[in-house]
Amino acid sequence: MKIRKWSAGEAVPRDLLLLADPSPEFVEDYVSRGECFIAEADGQAIGVYVLLPTRPGTVELVNIAVDEKHQGKGIGKRLVAHAIQQAKSKGYRTIEVGTGNSSIGQLALYQKCGFRMTGIDRDFFVRHYPEEIFEQGIQCRDMVRLSQDL
Ligand code: COA
Repeated sequence: MKIRKWSAGEAVPRDLLLLADPSPEFVEDYVSRGECFIAEADGQAIGVYVLLPTRPGTVELVNIAVDEKHQGKGIGKRLVAHAIQQAKSKGYRTIEVGTGNSSIGQLALYQKCGFRMTGIDRDFFVRHYPEEIFEQGIQCRDMVRLSQDL
């Protein structure tokens, strides 16, 4: 498997991006403004992440997804490590990520990759998504914000 930058003009792996974010409008917006990286195996995109500069010195990991058939094999961890390395090499001082209160596996992944919790945006998903979201029987209401100094 290799991870490479997505180049403008290539088809964006929308199905993958929508695994992480049910809003096609949000996805379209940050893909056009951020940098997209793709994990490829045998010429197929099996993973993706998007980095978006948000404030001076700060970049956010706004989307990360691994094809369902390939989950649980360490690819998500490799993508997060790659994103951290990219952010460092570009001179950012902080990398941030946000996830739902119900995204237990994602909260585990980010903390295993060095992120610490910094805050909670209460009712973020209630305000911004028209449909209710449930994961593992938990309603996804609040955005848990995490960050890491680089
Ligand atoms: N409790 C504890 N640890 C957990 C866990 C849980 N419930 N769920 C996952 N983890 C751990 C794994 O054990 C692994 O750590 P380890 O290597 O120390 O065992 C780590 O989190 C991630 O495993 P990995 O195989 O690298 O992840 P992945 O390739 O399956 O990718 C996602 C992770 C989140 C990218 C993938 O599941 C995905 O695409 N999900 C759908 C999209 C999504 O939700 N994106 C994030 C939006 S915030």
